[in-house]
Amino acid sequence: MAIEERDPLTGHRTTGHEWNGIKELNTPVPRIVYFFLITTTLFGLVYWVFMPALPLGTTYTKGILGYDERNVVRRDLARAAQDQAHWRNVVAQADFATIAADETVMGNVREAGHALFGQNCAVCHGVDASGNAGFPGLSTGALNWGDTPEAIEETIRVGINSAHPESRSAQMPAFGRDGILQRAEIEAVAAYVRDLGRSGADGAAADHPEGAEVFAANCAACHGDDARGNADVGAPDLADDKWLYGGGLQTVYSSVWAGRQGHMPTWEGRLGSLNIKILAAYLDDLRKARP
Ligand code: HEC
Ligand code: HEC
Repeated sequence: MAIEERDPLTGHRTTGHEWNGIKELNTPVPRIVYFFLITTTLFGLVYWVFMPALPLGTTYTKGILGYDERNVVRRDLARAAQDQAHWRNVVAQADFATIAADETVMGNVREAGHALFGQNCAVCHGVDASGNAGFPGLSTGALNWGDTPEAIEETIRVGINSAHPESRSAQMPAFGRDGILQRAEIEAVAAYVRDLGRSGADGAAADHPEGAEVFAANCAACHGDDARGNADVGAPDLADDKWLYGGGLQTVYSSVWAGRQGHMPTWEGRLGSLNIKILAAYLDDLRKARP
């Protein structure tokens, strides 16, 4: 075995090991590797000096810059709370007309209202507030309890047929089950009600005179002479094309036969008055955008 042997092609030394005539070259580690090794070590040392780095039991080396991410988060949170406080104060104190007129505040109301609605209301009323069978759409059309933001706020606060002591009470009587009307009378009034939206009050009365009579005697007290609804008792408009339970003959018949007492939870305890007001302003804005 030669003491020093050079590879004639590359000029490098060999390690002196040989396997079946194949010799291993003794090539040096590339310089770039040393370069990175030294730079990263230097970087590490400088970082230790300036930034928080080494844990020391219950504390740690703070570094001469005194940087602390917890402080950064604390400062960001304080700034966010300050930004929120301004528009939240306006919503808490101003009336709905003032809130609606302030575009900056409304921008925040739309964002916060959308999030609140998505978390609390969308399961029943749909993500875009357009409603589901048995759960009213809130974004368009007449509302049973009134269209003003104040009325909407009150409905959200106390609920409908809810456990709240001031709950709104929506009691559509069970005319068939409780024996108030005969089957034929219910059939007549159901046909009349179904056609109100299609043929208008006069057209429906001409087609179903008996139904119109039953309506005037039994239903107008709550739903109004013209069937346009009454927000005082939460009786829906029956002459528009918006239905909570459905406008087909069979569904209207069921509504009259067995009555309806929809349940809307009270949100006073869960959301608090400010969030409820934000939701009312949000829905009012949504309804103005989609009349
Ligand atoms: C005591 C008041 C009252 C009387 C009287 C009354 N209603 Fe109602 N009606 C209501 C209320 C309140 C609702 C809404 C129920 C709910 O929200 O769950 C309603 C709902 C309805 C609905 C369902 C509407 C929909 O959107 O699906 C129909 C249909 C209806 N009433 C028809 C009648 C007819 C027909 C009569 C007369 C035979 C009548 N009502 C008498 C209060 C009344
Ligand atoms: C568990 C299902 C449910 C949830 C959750 C719910 N609602 Fe309702 N909501 C209802 C039902 C059902 C009615 C209709 C009650 C009736 O029959 O009159 C209603 C009615 C309403 C009305 C009155 C509509 C009218 O015609 O006057 C408003 C406003 C309303 N909800 C807003 C909200 C808001 C805002 C939230 C979220 C904070 C919410 N609801 C969450 C079920 C729900």
